[in-house]
Amino acid sequence: MSLTRRKLLRLASGAAVALPVASALTGCQDEGGSTGALRKSRGKAPTPYKVPLPVPPVLKPSRTEGGVDYYDIVQKPAQVEIIPGTKTEIWGYNGLFPGPTLSTRSSRPIVVRHTNELEVPVAVHLHGGKTPPEHDGFPTDLILPRGGWDGHGHDGHGGDVSQGSREYRYPLQQPAATLWYHDHRMDFTGPQVYFGLAGFHLVHDDEEEALPLPKGDRDIPLMICDRSFTADGAFDYPSVDPALKGEHGVTEDFMEGVLGDVILVNGAPWPVLEVTNTRYRFRLLNASNARRYRLALDPGPQSGSAFVQVGSDVGLLGRPIGHDEIQMASAERFDVVVDFSKFPVGTKINMINKLDDGDTGKVMQFHVVRKASDESQVPSKLVDFEPLSRSSATVTRKFDFNQRSDDGWDINGQMYDPQRDDAVPELGATEIWRFDGDAHHPVHLHLAHFQVLSRNQNDPGSYDSGWKDTIDLQSGKEMEIIARFTGYRGRYVFHCHNLEHEDMGMMANFRVK
Ligand code: C2O
Ligand code: CU
Repeated sequence: MSLTRRKLLRLASGAAVALPVASALTGCQDEGGSTGALRKSRGKAPTPYKVPLPVPPVLKPSRTEGGVDYYDIVQKPAQVEIIPGTKTEIWGYNGLFPGPTLSTRSSRPIVVRHTNELEVPVAVHLHGGKTPPEHDGFPTDLILPRGGWDGHGHDGHGGDVSQGSREYRYPLQQPAATLWYHDHRMDFTGPQVYFGLAGFHLVHDDEEEALPLPKGDRDIPLMICDRSFTADGAFDYPSVDPALKGEHGVTEDFMEGVLGDVILVNGAPWPVLEVTNTRYRFRLLNASNARRYRLALDPGPQSGSAFVQVGSDVGLLGRPIGHDEIQMASAERFDVVVDFSKFPVGTKINMINKLDDGDTGKVMQFHVVRKASDESQVPSKLVDFEPLSRSSATVTRKFDFNQRSDDGWDINGQMYDPQRDDAVPELGATEIWRFDGDAHHPVHLHLAHFQVLSRNQNDPGSYDSGWKDTIDLQSGKEMEIIARFTGYRGRYVFHCHNLEHEDMGMMANFRVK
């Protein structure tokens, strides 16, 4: 597809000219329950269940001043061993993939200074954060490379552009939750997250700490994603412009989404975690560009549920929920407890993905290696949870995530325009938003936390509980959420978190007034 044609259509969409979509619509490709196309690795695939699970290091503040913790992160390339015996270049926060974990306290503000030593512009978003707009990683608020930038056309779109570094302030006025931070560069989020720009940010508070949940080295974040590799071990992402300078997006075959054939957990292929026969808390994050998972344990426990969910995207649940399987779309988090005392010492338990067979049907392995004492419990009440009632909403809006054009994806028939406000909720308002979609579209709102009201005109599903920031909007289905626009005034994005859809237009703005 020619640059001019894409550019023209992009301009046309910005000017609200109808796109010639109807004739260009194609059926959506589905690979094992995910919207996307499989990119096959060309090298030799690693053998599942051989390497140990890495746990990303917790970042220490570089200084504390006036009750504010200051952190420094340098974004840079690094050579790491992902496939045993091979080096892969990653782009990492402090050269790590996943990036270092931030572990912070609710309502204790922090400042993170990001320095960009990569060769491309970046923007950093704290996913799930209640953050003032100028610190939210708006896609055009770029940090240009410290070494200079000669790219053109995508260097700002009128955003607030910084040279080399930028400070992000996070008030963190929100409860304990499993958040994550990742790149959000306009038009190029897909490749930049794929190359490694993602990490955990765990917010803690007194209420969470008072609960007898597993703690310390039995509280482990698990970032699950899929990647493909070239014959010499590089990440293989099908960008139109591999330099990420000119035309954005992926080659035609991958417009539905990029699916890899190697499953990584915390950056390691199908790793193994040795556990004691005790309870563990796992903070599951689907950080894949497009892949969905339905996680299960094999073998499962003789009695009770495999996973006891204690938290959702942006906080703890009111009460725990037992699941034998956990289905998760891109960007969703499930905070779960697994009780390994239900398995004899010596058992190897595979965490599998029931949406696929073969190696993408495998995720990681737990090996119960010894006995240990366990003081932890999952209490039947976790935190106070206030369900939002339909009648508290003052406005209802509708967004169709349902048109793929030749050149991208859109919401309500329009591709993203960073200058246009697609909704203007009032500060503090409660609103109902209705979504429908013709493919799997994980819908994510910045700033506003929400609850699911209905899924396909029925009650929400078992995976929809608690406070959310992303939902698994499924192919041909409808969903309603009820969102609270508390926090800050200003312009924020909402979008599909299939990163290929996001980069190719499936994003919109709301401006809190
Ligand atoms: Cu996790 Cu706007 O993104
Ligand atoms: Cu989508």
